[in-house]
Amino acid sequence: MSNALKDYLDFCQNRVERALEAHLPNENILPQKLHRAMRYSTLDGGKRMRPMLTYCTGKTLGIAPESLDAPACAVECIHVYSLIHDDLPAMDDDDLRRGKATCHKAFDEATAILTGDALQALAFEILANDPSITASPENRLKMITLLTKASGSQGMVGGQAIDLESVGTRLTLPELENMHIHKTGALIRASVNMATLAKADIDPNIAKKLDNYAKCIGLSFQVKDDILDQESDTATLGKTQGKDQDNNKPTYPALLGLAGAKQKAQELHEQALDNLSIFGSEADLLRDLSLYIIQRNH
Ligand code: IPE
Ligand code: IPE
Ligand code: MG
Ligand code: MG
Ligand code: MG
Repeated sequence: MSNALKDYLDFCQNRVERALEAHLPNENILPQKLHRAMRYSTLDGGKRMRPMLTYCTGKTLGIAPESLDAPACAVECIHVYSLIHDDLPAMDDDDLRRGKATCHKAFDEATAILTGDALQALAFEILANDPSITASPENRLKMITLLTKASGSQGMVGGQAIDLESVGTRLTLPELENMHIHKTGALIRASVNMATLAKADIDPNIAKKLDNYAKCIGLSFQVKDDILDQESDTATLGKTQGKDQDNNKPTYPALLGLAGAKQKAQELHEQALDNLSIFGSEADLLRDLSLYIIQRNH
């Protein structure tokens, strides 16, 4: 990771941590177990890649991070909710997440379901209400619409449904790509596009290029996640290595082999960079982030 990216990542992680801390209900407020579980799963963990993308897109467009705390928090809340539900016994049945017990293990299944539900609602409350958003009311509404679509049956949840239906089957490459674009790509794309919406009167060509960049890294992110599941280890990942094979999931390494999957990730990175060619150094963080996504070890 470049030093510039490392510094900005630290800055963004601190920002989003503070903002999430402020938005999450206090553990002393009833119902205490639910609020404890929301804070347990959301705070102090994860790479915060989606908030990072929101802030880095903002930096490319000259938008102050202060105006992006709400979309950054909202997308992270949706992401954490998706992880909590993804780990449930009815889905991937995982015990470990972000280096600690999954929500349903630390609490119980019903609490984990409700924690996900509550985080989803909180995400939209933040987007609808947070006074830090400087975008016009019309663009705030567009952000809400964007995140709802990216989260729902034609976005992340749809991708998760395809994932579960596909257990034990052999998908074609286009089918696998479609599953990944939905289950992971949709929220990553929304992370970038919500920042684009924070910019008044953005040139549609610039918005399109950023969206295309986001599509490439959204897919490369899940290709790399599949690769890491196969070749990393549990301690480094903070989640149980080898679960895709155990659960008979269709993945890029299963279909293309490890070398083929790595080649695909590299190609997507190059396509991501091509889409940034209209920018100068103001997009360097986005370039570094694309490389980090395919080179990361967790
Ligand atoms: C894991 O996402 C689930 C996927 C969508 C691939 P991350 O790798 O971003 O998980 P955290 O947020 O860092 O824990
Ligand atoms: C999950 O994909 C995508 C989500 C929408 C949460 P995975 O099932 O591969 O994520 P991990 O590997 O458990 O983090
Ligand atoms: Mg899953
Ligand atoms: Mg999983
Ligand atoms: Mg995975």
